[in-house]
Amino acid sequence: MMQQSRVKMMQSERLQRIGAYLFADLDRKQEALRAKGVDVINLGVGDPDLPTPGHIISALEEGARDPRTHQYPPYYGTKEFRQAAAAWFANRFGVELDAQRQVLALIGSKEGLAHLPWAILNPGEIALVPDPGYPVYRSATIMADGEPVAMPLAAERGFLPDFDAIPADVLRRARLLFLNYPNNPTGAVADLAFFARAVGFARRHDLLLVHDNAYSEIAYDGYRPPSILQVDGALDVAIELHSLSKTFNMTGWRIGFAAGRPEAVDALGTVKTNVDSGVFRAVQQAGVAALSGPQDVVGPTLKRYQGRRDRLVEALRSVGWRPPTPRATLYVWMPTPDGQSSVAFAADVLDRTGVVITPGVGYGSGGEGYVRLSLTTPDERLDEALARIRRTYG
Ligand SMILES: Cc1ncc(COP(=O)(O)O)c(C=O)c1O
Repeated sequence: MMQQSRVKMMQSERLQRIGAYLFADLDRKQEALRAKGVDVINLGVGDPDLPTPGHIISALEEGARDPRTHQYPPYYGTKEFRQAAAAWFANRFGVELDAQRQVLALIGSKEGLAHLPWAILNPGEIALVPDPGYPVYRSATIMADGEPVAMPLAAERGFLPDFDAIPADVLRRARLLFLNYPNNPTGAVADLAFFARAVGFARRHDLLLVHDNAYSEIAYDGYRPPSILQVDGALDVAIELHSLSKTFNMTGWRIGFAAGRPEAVDALGTVKTNVDSGVFRAVQQAGVAALSGPQDVVGPTLKRYQGRRDRLVEALRSVGWRPPTPRATLYVWMPTPDGQSSVAFAADVLDRTGVVITPGVGYGSGGEGYVRLSLTTPDERLDEALARIRRTYG
């Protein structure tokens, strides 16, 4: 008790406002099972299990041997990396970006998301955040002494927010609007018509629209997710975050980029000049190799995930559960059977099968009644998990 209150005293009020780590209980349960010798299989985390393609690793090796990479990199990213990002963007989305003014290198997209509220919000101003959603939008807003206001994502609306439901007094104080499609955790996708509505809404209410497009390349059945910057006029109101993490199996490398409204890019860059010193140049060279090199390296990875998705969905349906088939992302977002709470259901699955799945409530109260299962577990382990689920619940 004593220890706990001391720890609390060490933490700023804003850190305490972020609140408890919702997966802590599940982590403890997992540890206890492992200690008892249970072979625990984790379908909880979204971290690609496949290796980074060889030509990207070679570019890092070469870069690391060059002493010119050993000094501080430029804060906004090297010219070569920003140009490669702009060229990739033009090829992929048909949107021309000015690499100098509209592109900024990031230490992974999480870093950009975490720093944006610092760059844009004054204390007490509101950021509209999807609920359920990637937890960083909310926690980063709190760290910047802003106020996160949840926009519920409901299944009936395809997990898209209802802009008309946001109260006028909230809108008056709002400065930031976070969106994320393809969406973590729901696996939902959005089309350009929705993005056009979002851009119009942001313009009318003078919001900076932050679109997290970390899963832009992780899609199935031939589907190609759009960029919000394809919408006419989006470059005046939006900034989009991209990541090399999931596209090229590079989560550990920490590289991504922001693209969009120049003032927002500049404000984010200014935060970075004050808090970090950029991405190791050799990693940026590897990023250039990834973005400028063969894009068909992504194909086999997607094929692998798609196979896992199909086996996972089929196994869950065979025991009477009702997962939809996601068109994108690394996740299957499934309603819990019989309306069980997400924590109770995840705990039951863990206790009875040794398989870890994530309770939806960990992504916000709007995630209650759902669990998330990830496609990044190696095939044999995934198949073993599915066999256990079939045996136990079938
Ligand atoms: C929605 C979403 N955005 C951003 C990230 C962060 O990715 P990174 O910082 O590796 O680019 C993740 C990681 O899981 C994510 O799910």
